[in-house]
Amino acid sequence: MALSILTLCYLIGSITFIVGLKMLSNPATARRGNLIAAGGMSIAIAGTIFLYKDESGNPLHNYAWIFGGLIIGAVIGTIAAKKVKMTAMPEMVSMFNGMGGACAALISMIEFRHEVHNFGSGSGLEAIQTSSQNDLRVFLVICLAGLIIGSVSFAGSMIAWGKLNGKIKDFAFKGQHFVNIGLLILILVLAVFLVGWLPASGVTIFYSILGLSLLYGILFVMPIGGADMPVVISLLNSFTGVAAACGGFLYDNKVMLTGGILVGAAGTLLTILMCRAMNRSLKNVLIGSFGATATASGAKQQGGAYKEISISDAAVVMNYAHKIMIVPGYGLAVAQAQHACHELEKLLESRGVDVKYAIHPVAGRMPGHMNVLLAEADVSYDKLLEMEQANAEFPTTDVVLVLGANDVVNPAAKNDPSSPIYGMPILEVELAKAVIINKRSMKPGYAGIENSLFFQPKSSMLFGDAKKVLQDLTAEIKNL
Ligand code: TAP
Repeated sequence: MALSILTLCYLIGSITFIVGLKMLSNPATARRGNLIAAGGMSIAIAGTIFLYKDESGNPLHNYAWIFGGLIIGAVIGTIAAKKVKMTAMPEMVSMFNGMGGACAALISMIEFRHEVHNFGSGSGLEAIQTSSQNDLRVFLVICLAGLIIGSVSFAGSMIAWGKLNGKIKDFAFKGQHFVNIGLLILILVLAVFLVGWLPASGVTIFYSILGLSLLYGILFVMPIGGADMPVVISLLNSFTGVAAACGGFLYDNKVMLTGGILVGAAGTLLTILMCRAMNRSLKNVLIGSFGATATASGAKQQGGAYKEISISDAAVVMNYAHKIMIVPGYGLAVAQAQHACHELEKLLESRGVDVKYAIHPVAGRMPGHMNVLLAEADVSYDKLLEMEQANAEFPTTDVVLVLGANDVVNPAAKNDPSSPIYGMPILEVELAKAVIINKRSMKPGYAGIENSLFFQPKSSMLFGDAKKVLQDLTAEIKNL
């Protein structure tokens, strides 16, 4: 009976996870989807803690350790999630993902230890207590997959976390990609040797594989341009999912298996979608240096004539417009100007202006960055237009207000085949009657390239920090 209730808990966990994941794809349902998935997982965890029985019918007994860990983790997680700034979200995701990878690797280590008789005394796999060698080999394949993938994900995520918060600098040496490939081959050869030959030195080889995998995780992420980290984190996230699924195999735990596979699949799809939306191949992200060198080189400024607009003129133009489209970008997140933006939107709406937001899929630095940012300020979801919808509406828009966005509105993506972002789908803001661009300077964005939009006759630059500019605009419009 207990087992069947536990199976039911796992079924609820799996179903709510799938439903939650589906709901995450829409801003209007994302918050609820997250809670539903978390609720289902809590049921699965509680079921495991209180209903699980081992082969001899014994329940779990080490409750102090279990609840100690749960409480410490919950407190740290809650504080970290509450304190994190919107711009630091990718690094927090990276840290959490790394912890998932570490868990998966630890599961493999613990299960290996359980399987090895007289662990630590130097005796090898010949002393393993498993009845048949074939069972042992199957166990080892899954265990090693969890160990390798989990530790690469852990080490890589920690490096990504350090790079994103500026503690670790990009590091590369000549021939590093060959060293990385050599290391990966060595890890695989050792794993095949361990599984195929079950050598007496099995324990040593197992821990050598762990060490080499950690080193590979570090070297794999080290040379990647810091700004490319979100794509790498998404990839590492899918690794963690696969490693967790291996844990599900080891424990014969269905919910862990389903959860791991879903995370692995979702992470892989997200990585592909991000690359596609940036018009880059994964290979180019992993061994290219788009973000790193382009930004580091400071991007040449071609110069050219651009015109500036004052706060008061911009306020007049916007106050008397019929339809305004706001294009948020990374700078809006940097300035934490989402609330100021919502204030301006409400004011304009109260003056009879139709205000909407045009959301580019890779605006900002993480998937859904702009949706999350605007949701935080309670901007209504039905005001957010996806790129295709927004592009269809630009020709009938009087004013586009670009707030801290750059690459996602760069026409070079359409008309300059030599541009690194050529082919990336963009928001075609130049189709509107007037474009006001707010940023602090003429510096380039993430891709490190000049933006010809700034020099077009219908464009005007409104320089300044987004939050201050929005507050000033609101104050000015109130006086009109
Ligand atoms: P960016 O092209 O990075 O441009 C952001 C602009 O914001 C900068 O030009 C900067 O100009 C301005 N800015 C910074 N701080 C500001 C502030 N306090 N107030 C006003 N403006 C400020 O951003 P985007 O248009 O959102 O494009 C995103 C880029 O990131 C794309 O190239 C995309 O491929 C890449 N990327 C995205 C993701 C995801 S998943 N979203 C992942 C990896 C990479 P100033 O310095 O002159 O102010």
